[in-house]
Amino acid sequence: MTMTEDDEPAVELEARLEEQDSFEPPESFVEQANVADEGIYEAFAENWPDCWERAADLLEWDAPYGEVLDDSNPPFFEWFVDGKLNASANCLDRHVENGAKNRAAIKWEGEPGETRTYTYGDLLTEVESFAAALGELGVEEDDVVTLYLPMIPELPIAMLACARIGAPHSVVFAGFSADALATRMNSADSEYLVTCDGYYRRGEALNHKEKADKGLRGVDHEVETVVVDRLGDELNHFLGASAHDYDELVDEHAGASVEPVSRDAEDMLFLMYTSGTTGQPKGVKHTTGGYLAYAAWTSHAVLDVKPEDTYWCAADIGWITGHSYIVYGPLALGTTTVMYEGTPDYPERDRLWELVETNDVDIFYTAPTAIRAFMKWGEEYPQRHDLSSLRLLGTVGEPINPRAWKWYYKHIGGEECPIVDTWWQTETGGMMITTLPGINTMKPGSAGPPLPGIDATVVDVEGEEIVAGEAGYLTVQRPWPGMLRTLYRNDERFISEYWAEYSDTNSDDPDDWVYFPEDGAKLDGDGYITILGRVDDVINVSGHRLGTMEIESAIVGTEGVAEAAVVGGDHEVKGEAVYAYAILEDGQEPTDGMRERIVAGVEDAIGPIARPEEVIFTPELPKTRSGKIMRRLLEDIASGNELGDTSTLRNPDVVDDIVDRVGGD
Ligand code: WTA
Repeated sequence: MTMTEDDEPAVELEARLEEQDSFEPPESFVEQANVADEGIYEAFAENWPDCWERAADLLEWDAPYGEVLDDSNPPFFEWFVDGKLNASANCLDRHVENGAKNRAAIKWEGEPGETRTYTYGDLLTEVESFAAALGELGVEEDDVVTLYLPMIPELPIAMLACARIGAPHSVVFAGFSADALATRMNSADSEYLVTCDGYYRRGEALNHKEKADKGLRGVDHEVETVVVDRLGDELNHFLGASAHDYDELVDEHAGASVEPVSRDAEDMLFLMYTSGTTGQPKGVKHTTGGYLAYAAWTSHAVLDVKPEDTYWCAADIGWITGHSYIVYGPLALGTTTVMYEGTPDYPERDRLWELVETNDVDIFYTAPTAIRAFMKWGEEYPQRHDLSSLRLLGTVGEPINPRAWKWYYKHIGGEECPIVDTWWQTETGGMMITTLPGINTMKPGSAGPPLPGIDATVVDVEGEEIVAGEAGYLTVQRPWPGMLRTLYRNDERFISEYWAEYSDTNSDDPDDWVYFPEDGAKLDGDGYITILGRVDDVINVSGHRLGTMEIESAIVGTEGVAEAAVVGGDHEVKGEAVYAYAILEDGQEPTDGMRERIVAGVEDAIGPIARPEEVIFTPELPKTRSGKIMRRLLEDIASGNELGDTSTLRNPDVVDDIVDRVGGD
């Protein structure tokens, strides 16, 4: 790794970095950046909404669109009206036709170390075979196909095969539980499931099929299942009557040619379930034209992806980041995207850096929680490897504190790579607030200005713009192509969740409609936005979004528990961790066994990611006079913060009692 100032003693360099609160993009980066003209902000503003043609132009359309935006029925905005296209043709066929048949599309590494490379040609062939197989199983256009798969190539292959035949996919994160799978399949009436026998985690073969089978028992309709054999002899599995072997299906349809279905720009590309304030996960609907154009555009402008790059987003495809920035964005641009099956610390804590070195990765995108873990492990691990291939770094999913930012900048980027701190959500489809790496000054801790064409502002409770220096609520005042179109089969909830707060919901004037992402934010004098975190009952554990109500209902479902409150407390590596306060029914004892049953209940309902860090038994929860649980106070207790005035509580005495129990027994 080369340092900019080779002779600078380490201690001085550390001190200099500590003081520095803004960083300019390196000249070497600017010179080659996809977007380097700062006039782009004005150009987009002046030409809005037609500026978005620039995003649409990155795609190949079967039929041209008419209007860029139809805003006649807010908040049901439509983009690239009447345009027709197919996402898999955009991610595969056109690259194969344009001479990139032999370029690597996916470079995959399994946790045990085996690798597989799919060229664009290979990928197209397998996608067509699997698309033909899905068709034979009965999948028709607009049928929702659930994909419950870990980080193996068959996951993006299945996604693209679905896209090819116009069947929306609904990917369920492999770490989610059987119950979570069943809930999502029932909610989407999904009659098809693609899953696998298992996968590797820290050297162990995990049985995934068992979980999928258990999930299927909770599905209220018939399901055709396809099972990928990931583990071979390591784990024998049996296929039931309605289950098919993936490899057999692909072999049977080898050489099949499947015409990509021309989809309307507004047709659904996929559904992605995410957590919200209420217990039921929300089915976020993304479309073929707007979403794909937006994923491609942001990959181009923010991640600076070029076809000749090797690009690595170390997220899981089970979350939106993986959809937009492992699969759709990079493949639409014809680059090489890296996928890794396992964890960063197996067999050693330098696994990711080894992957960067061996693949000559140019662009690396991860979550702050990972960076905090790397920091904790120490710089010796990245130092074992030559990371000089890197050109750009990115983060996503949660706020990054300046210390972690600087560590990433120095120890991974060698002070030569810009960092993009990208704010966005499952619902936004792609990045919304971030610096453009070839243009803007970087300020560690602050995501940056809204992207060109994105009208994000911070407002007060009344919806008035706040003055620089103050904190308020983040809003997006105008639509954008990547936005969710609705919540699956629930337009009403779509409006109440995202628009009711700041819009005049009786108006048909699009200017009266304001999108509310439910994040707090601060604005500085340069228009940079610092995200402060969720203002609803969603917590962010290691960049994973979890609904506190979902966890609470799992805890209350444990026998002997009367009431529960779940909050996020500060955590050094995870950012936030789950703290559960539980009140037991009369006659129940707060034993270790009870604690284990509660934890197991949460794992069954959601998955190990939602596992409480601590379960605190308490006889009562602190409540306001009107009977509302004082969550803020529970959060402060969990984080070990100074507690404010508690005298206005209905039951102030309970606070000391709870404080004594946290971290105790
Ligand atoms: C948070 C992940 C601070 C935020 C792409 C948002 C962030 C939620 C950032 C969405 C960031 C995402 N800085 N906070 N750069 N990026 N968030 O839907 O609270 O899993 O609302 O999408 O993550 O999480 P989701």
